[in-house]
Amino acid sequence: MPASSKNVPRHIAIIMDGNGRWAKGRGLPRIKGHEAGAQAVRECVEGCGELKVEYLTLYAFSAENWQRPKTEVIALMRLLEKFLREKTPELIEKNVRLQAIGRLTDLPASSQQQLHKTIEQTAGNTGLTLILALSYGGRLEIIDGIKSLLRAIELGHIDRAMIDVEMFSKHLYTRYYPDPDLLIRTSGEMRLSNFLLWQTSYTEMYITPKLWPDFTKKDLVAAVEEFGRRQRRYGVVL
Ligand code: IPE
Ligand code: IPE
Ligand code: MG
Repeated sequence: MPASSKNVPRHIAIIMDGNGRWAKGRGLPRIKGHEAGAQAVRECVEGCGELKVEYLTLYAFSAENWQRPKTEVIALMRLLEKFLREKTPELIEKNVRLQAIGRLTDLPASSQQQLHKTIEQTAGNTGLTLILALSYGGRLEIIDGIKSLLRAIELGHIDRAMIDVEMFSKHLYTRYYPDPDLLIRTSGEMRLSNFLLWQTSYTEMYITPKLWPDFTKKDLVAAVEEFGRRQRRYGVVL
């Protein structure tokens, strides 16, 4: 891989957008775009493994995406199950550990079962951690975090005076992972769409007009190289 190992982001998060437009441009039904998108996921996971990225979070289905036509939602859930079922041996072979964030209990039972199966089967892997954001909403996550904090106070585990940024982070879905260093969004949209609102406060953003199914390993390397040229200041004078 051409990208140098220096300045490689530890955690990349991706808003995989543009599947529908990709399909539309070819006169195909939207689901064909999602299928092509699954192929791009494979390539991206492989690329992150090669670049020695430690965490890759993929926005696969938002809390708002439930409002799409029922046929599309069902097709997406089926595709998720198929992807996990078929790719688990490859994830194991590539030493990838699968994790998931979001309101996972909103997913159909069969999707939850397959998801937990793959999570269990890859739990011992020590390479890339691949985190799927499913039925994920950043605002919902913050609300769930507040509820979790309140419970901890009620149980007497913590005192309200102890609440700070670090402690609150420990009550989010992402408590086990560092914040993303680089956020990539495909298809040119300049918005977060409710993705990782808390965690992206100092994340570098990279937006490409490419539609997600067209996003290749080369595009990933280009994003990582651009990241390597950025100067992160965190509000201070350097
Ligand atoms: C992203 O592609 C995939 C999901 C949101 C599940 P879209 O389906 O949003 O594609 P566009 O934005 O309509 O092109
Ligand atoms: C964000 O894309 C969600 C995922 C990629 C899963 P959307 O297509 O749902 O976002 P909007 O509607 O363009 O904001
Ligand atoms: Mg979209």
